[in-house]
This record gives sequence, C-alpha cells and structure tokens, in this order.
Amino acid sequence: MENKDWLGNSQSVFRILGASSHSGYKREQHDYYATEPKAVKLLLTEEKFAHLIWECACGEGHISKELEKAGYAVISTDVVYRGFGEVSPVDFLNISPDFQFKGDIITNPPYKYALEFVKQALSIVYQGGKVAMFLKLTFLEGQKRKEFFKINPPKTVYVSSSRLICALNGDFERFKSSAVAYAWFVWVKGYSGEPVIKWIN
Ligand SMILES: C[S@@+](CC[C@H](N)C(=O)[O-])C[C@H]1O[C@@H](n2cnc3c(N)ncnc32)[C@H](O)[C@@H]1O
Repeated sequence: MENKDWLGNSQSVFRILGASSHSGYKREQHDYYATEPKAVKLLLTEEKFAHLIWECACGEGHISKELEKAGYAVISTDVVYRGFGEVSPVDFLNISPDFQFKGDIITNPPYKYALEFVKQALSIVYQGGKVAMFLKLTFLEGQKRKEFFKINPPKTVYVSSSRLICALNGDFERFKSSAVAYAWFVWVKGYSGEPVIKWIN
C-alpha cells in the first residue's frame, strides 16, 4: 500500500515501520475484543492528541473510526486483517526498535501482551508523545508491572466508573454488559511525576 501522508513519503507502510509481514504470529482469533466506541468519546473529552495517531492493533476499527470522526489522521494496523485498516499484517511487537513514530499511539491491545505493547509504544513514540491504552483496571496491579510503573508512570489513569464493553469478536449484540472494569492509561513519554487518577463515565 502506498502512503504519501505519513512522513510525506511515498513508501509502503511496512517499509516505513521497519516491520515484517511474516511475523510468525499465531493467529488467535479469540484475542479479538472490540472496544465500545463510547470509550473513545470519553477519552477524547479529556485528552488532546497529536494529529497523527497510530492504532496498532485496530481490529475492525472501532477505536480508529471514532478518532477519525474527531478529525485525527489515523494509521490502522493489526497482525490479523479484519476488514479494516492496512490489509497486510503488521506485528506491532516486531517493529524495529530503531523506528520512531512522529505521532501518538492509541489502542486496546491484546491483554496477554498488554505490557509488551505499552513498552513497545513508549519506545516508538517521540519524546513528549502520548500512548493511550484501554486496559483492564487490574493492569495497575502485579509485581512486574509495579517495577515498570516505577520507571514509566502513566500521567493519567481514567477509570470507567460505569462498565464499558469490549465485545468478543466485535459482537456487541451478544455482549451487552461487562463484568470487567476498564480504564484508559495515558503515558506521556518522558513523564516522571506522580500519576493522576480521574473517574470518567
Ligand atoms: C483486544 S483486541 C482490540 C481491537 C481494537 N483495538 C479495538 O479496540 O476494537 C486486540 C487486537 O490486537 C491484535 N493483535 C494481537 N497481537 C498483535 C500484534 N502482535 N501486533 C498487532 N496486533 C495484534 C488482535 O488481532 C486484535 O485485533
């Protein structure tokens, strides 16, 4: 795919990303939980982002579409093509560590690899860039994450006081309520102060 908007070049997304489309990723379709669009609207009432945003695990584009509606330019990739975004797979965890993205990163990552996604996103964005991840509230706990948080505190955690839905395989008709509490975790690369907790929804 040719992309002239990103960095002003006419290069393939994959060359720009330094990514391989042969990721060896085992396609676990059940890793796919679509984010309720309302979650994005709530985030956008609180946070402003760079004009260019990368949704690096886009699924069917539930987050991307809301960002686009709000006027952001969004690059959408996933390791599994689900009918939205770049057709060729991009394994976000396989992006070259040298790659620097001149925008912000927003996603709801596969929870199993959530910490890896946060680390990778923070290494890829520019100094002062934002990384916003829609994660289970329980991401706050755990020894491994505690050590990570000490060095990389999120700037703000937006707790969803009423439950928001992540629907398995994007089936919002079937999954109308949620037993899981979610929050938006927002990092600003280079921030080393105390995190602030806010309550949304
Ligand atoms: C929880 S779903 C969220 C989908 C979308 N972000 C949303 O919020 O609607 C996680 C997505 O991560 C994708 N994924 C899993 N591992 C990945 C990887 N290594 N690189 C890129 N995407 C990955 C899955 O295919 C799935 O679509």
